Amino acid sequence: MSGAPQRVVATAPGKINLSLRVGAADERGYHALATVFQAVDLLETVEARLPQDPGALTLTVDSRVRGDVPVDASNLALRAAALLRAETGTTQGAALHITKRVPVAGGMGGGSADAAAALVALNRLWRLGLSDRELMLLGAGLGADVPFAVLGGTALGTGNGDQLQRVPAPAPLTWLLCAPGGHLATPEVFRAFDALAAQADAQPPRTPRADQHQLAALAAGDREAIARSLANELHEPAVHLRPDLQEILSALREHGALGAIVSGSGPTLAALVRDAQHGEEVSARVREDRGDLECTLTRSSPYGARIVAVD
Ligand code: C5P
Repeated sequence: MSGAPQRVVATAPGKINLSLRVGAADERGYHALATVFQAVDLLETVEARLPQDPGALTLTVDSRVRGDVPVDASNLALRAAALLRAETGTTQGAALHITKRVPVAGGMGGGSADAAAALVALNRLWRLGLSDRELMLLGAGLGADVPFAVLGGTALGTGNGDQLQRVPAPAPLTWLLCAPGGHLATPEVFRAFDALAAQADAQPPRTPRADQHQLAALAAGDREAIARSLANELHEPAVHLRPDLQEILSALREHGALGAIVSGSGPTLAALVRDAQHGEEVSARVREDRGDLECTLTRSSPYGARIVAVD
């Protein structure tokens, strides 16, 4: 397994925040978080090939989900490539191709997964020899969720969500993910959080604390206790901007989901179900009233960004 690869393919997972506690914003407007991330088996794929024109960086996207994906220099996979070149001094190029399956601007870290998969793929294609730890540190400069997309599994995120500690989560969980259409911009949801806190004269803590009950429920593999512990402090601002999310969450619970939350900054909703069959039943019932919902079943995943093909 040496020599110069011509093509490397990597995948990286979308994520759900099983709990998300939000603290005060710093001078850059970034909020302190205590969050439990869980990777799911809904993957972004990034193929990186050595280009015809040796120094060129190009991008194409094949999206299997609704929504616009930027293909200019603002795309996180291209930014990951530019950052790797700046940090390592390499002048190599790449033709990147993303296959998107994680909802766009849906609160599931799809853009971050693109960046993570690009970092891992280019590290091999360009034979840079960086460790996962180094890729995670670089990724933090691209977005707060990028280090988790490199690590995967289940992890506690503190700082801005970029300081990670793996947590034991022995029970595989089945999730029904429902995308209600439309997008929520993460900065807008955090701004609504600040506005609602100011209105209520509430002072978000400087350092929010992790939900210890949830960590214990995960370690014990107690699905009912995990369901009870699902909580997201971006729920209120997300519902403030998208009131229909509340109805869908209520419908998911009424139709038998063990628990349901807004995923990250939304608008994707994540419902914990017993198994795939139970998830299909909940999905069918919820979609009787809301036929526009795009619902997908997935499972928690132990994997982060990883290489799946090298030629
Ligand atoms: O890090 P990322 O680019 O994903 O963040 C997008 C935006 O979400 C930030 O510009 C910021 O407005 C908000 N954010 C935040 N606090 C965090 C993470 C993100 O306020 N911990």
